[in-house]
Amino acid sequence: MDIQFVAATAGLSPKSALARIVFEGAALEGALGQAAAASRFTGGKGQTLDILAPSGVDAARLVLVGVGKPAGFDSLGVENAAATAYNAVKASGLTTLRIELPDTGAEPAARAALGVRLASYRFDKYRTKEPADKKPSIVKTEVVAGDADAALKAFAPHAALADAMSFTRDLVSEPPNVLYPTEYARRVKALESLGLEVEILGEPEMTTLGMGSLLAVGQGSIRESQLVVIRWNGAADKSAQPIAFVGKGVCFDTGGISIKPADGMEDMKWDMGGSAAVAGLMHVLAGRKAKVNAIGILGLVENMPDGNAYRPGDVLTSMSGQTIEIINTDAEGRLVLADAVWYCQDRFKPKFMVDLATLTGAIIIALGHDLAGCYANNEELAGSLITASNTEGEPLWRMPLPAAYDKNIDSMIADMKNTGGRPGGSITAAMFIQRFTNGVPWAHLDIAATAWRKPSTSPTSPDGATGYGVRLLNRMVAEKYED
Ligand code: BES
Ligand code: MN
Ligand code: ZN
Repeated sequence: MDIQFVAATAGLSPKSALARIVFEGAALEGALGQAAAASRFTGGKGQTLDILAPSGVDAARLVLVGVGKPAGFDSLGVENAAATAYNAVKASGLTTLRIELPDTGAEPAARAALGVRLASYRFDKYRTKEPADKKPSIVKTEVVAGDADAALKAFAPHAALADAMSFTRDLVSEPPNVLYPTEYARRVKALESLGLEVEILGEPEMTTLGMGSLLAVGQGSIRESQLVVIRWNGAADKSAQPIAFVGKGVCFDTGGISIKPADGMEDMKWDMGGSAAVAGLMHVLAGRKAKVNAIGILGLVENMPDGNAYRPGDVLTSMSGQTIEIINTDAEGRLVLADAVWYCQDRFKPKFMVDLATLTGAIIIALGHDLAGCYANNEELAGSLITASNTEGEPLWRMPLPAAYDKNIDSMIADMKNTGGRPGGSITAAMFIQRFTNGVPWAHLDIAATAWRKPSTSPTSPDGATGYGVRLLNRMVAEKYED
C-alpha cells in the first residue's frame, strides 16, 4: 500500500473513493441526509454509508464512516475508522482511497495511515487462481493532513510497527511444511539487515547446554529444533541490563503421541504465534531504533508422533536441573519455554522476562477470544503490560498464580509433571513456567485465543493471523523502558 499525506486542496484522481468521518447524530445536508435516512445510517461506530457517483464531490465514491460520539473518538477510533473505510472500498475497482479526518493534525493522520496499513494486510502468496475482480483494487491511500511533512514524520514509528506486524502475521500464516524451525530461524536471521544480532543454536548446542526439556518435544520430528537469540542494543549504555522476551515456537503441534483429534488440527500451524510476536517486537524495536537493550528468544520445534518421539511416562531433565514427568505430550509448549526461559535468565540476567505462548485451550474457555491471559510474579510488570494493552487495543486480563495450585504439578517420580489436569489448566501451565524463572520478574501471556481470529472482529485485523502482542509490547517498551 502506497501511503501519502496530502493537502485538502490536492486534486483527486477520478478512480478515487473519498472517506469522511461522521459523528453520531450529526446532521447531514441535502442528498446525504436523504441517503442516510434511507439506510439507517446515524453515524454510529462502525457504520458505513457508501454513495456512488456523489454529486458535488470529485470522487467516484463517497464513504461515510460512523465513529460514534466525538468524546469516544480516540486514536484507536481513528485507526478503526480508516480501516473501516478501506474495507468498505478495497475491492470496489477504485485504486485510491482519500481519507478526510475531522482533525487534520499530524498524529491523527498518521494513525489513519496505520489503520489502513494494518487492514490491507493479506497473505495471498499461495493463491494462483483468485479472479482479478475479487482482489483488492485500492493501491494508494491519501490521508489529508494540515502539514503533510509533519504527518509523514509522525507516521515513521507507526510504519515500523505495521512492517513488524506484517512480518509476524506472515510467519503465523505460513503453512507448516514451509515454516519449520530451520526455515523460521533463517527468516529471523535475515532481520540482521535491520541492525539486529541473530544467533541460532541447533540441537548439538542445545544438547551441550542440557536442554532436555525443549529437545524432547522436537525429538519425533525430522526437522531440527532451533533456539534463536535476537539482540537489539539500542540503549546509550550498551552494557545496560536488558529486558527480555521469550516465545513459544511450535511450528506444528500434532500433540505428539498424545495425538490431537483431526478436526481443526490444521490450526496448530499457528502454535508458533508467541515466538512470532517476539520476533515482530524485535523487528519494530530495530525499525524505530528504540533506545533500549532487548533480548528476544524463540524456542522453535515441531511436535510429532514418531518411533523416536517422547512418550507419556518419560522423565526429562531440563537445563535448570529440574526433572519433569511427561503425562501428556500435547502439553509441549511449557516444556519448550522451561528451557528457553531458564536459558534467558541464566545467560542474560534481564530486568524482567515476558513470555508469549499459544499455551492452552483452557485460556480460551476462561476468557473467550477477546482477551489474552496475563500472569505475573511482579506487580509493576503486570501493571505496565495491562496499561499498554489497553492503549493499543490488544486487551489483557490478569490471571492468578495461587500458591495452593502449585502442588497440582508435583509428581511422584520427578520434580514435577507437565500437566495439572483440566481444572485451571491455563493457571497450572503458567505455574509450570514459573518454576523456571528463578525468581526473576516475569510475566506470561497466554495468547491461544488471540493470535488467530476467524472471523475477525477488528477492522484492522483481517481474518487469520492478528499479530497480537507486537503492539502492546512495543508500547510498553516505549512508555517505560527506553532511555
Ligand atoms: N497449542 C496447544 C494449545 C492451543 C489450543 C492453542 C487451541 C490454540 C488453540 C497446546 O500445546 C496444548 O495442546 N495444550 C493442551 C494442554 C493439555 C494437554 C494439558 C490443551 O490446552 O488442551
Ligand atoms: Mn499441544
Ligand atoms: Zn501447543
